[in-house]
Amino acid sequence: MATLRLGDTAPDFTAETSEGKLNFYDYLGDGWGILFSHPADFTPVCTTELGTAAKFKDEFAKRNVKMMALSVDGAASHKEWIKDINETQGTNVNFPIIADEDRKVSDLYDMIHPNADDTLTVRSVFIVGADKKIKLILTYPASTGRNFYELLRVVDSLQLTANHKVATPANWKNGEKVVVSPAIPTDEAKKIFTKGVEEVKPYLRLTPDPTA
Ligand code: BEZ
Repeated sequence: MATLRLGDTAPDFTAETSEGKLNFYDYLGDGWGILFSHPADFTPVCTTELGTAAKFKDEFAKRNVKMMALSVDGAASHKEWIKDINETQGTNVNFPIIADEDRKVSDLYDMIHPNADDTLTVRSVFIVGADKKIKLILTYPASTGRNFYELLRVVDSLQLTANHKVATPANWKNGEKVVVSPAIPTDEAKKIFTKGVEEVKPYLRLTPDPTA
């Protein structure tokens, strides 16, 4: 198993899920994807995470992003647990959860970190672009639930910076000022970004969100 890094092609797979057998690339089609693992079904933090993910589904769909979750529990367990998630979180879990009992996908994506836990998956996140390249990798410990606002924020940043010569500063949120790509000289930036360019330093230029 080679280590996956940003820019690598996300490995394709076919796996049993809570919604039947699915192929990852077919499921994503020409859109973006979030593949995320959690340690185990019927555990408290995971229950809140999967419920929250379901509540974010429409926001991700607006951005052409589909979610797929994973744990090493079986499909029957996932289906029973989904009932609990829906009941306790007031949601409708409406994306597939991979039943990775043979750890095929966990191994492919290096989601089991033996020095943390030698059988359960950690909380990994892979954001995959429409080009099937890995755009973001996050690894959280079992004891810390993830922030889905942050995942949405990163998708917004990735999709903005894929189409415009900008980057997004610390704590940036959709609609806020962005940073002009360092590769663009300020004179040229002023022609490209007609809403204005603020030169704080020659290497730090801000401009309004070009899409806002
Ligand atoms: C949880 O989801 O609550 C959890 C799972 C494994 C270890 C610790 C917490």
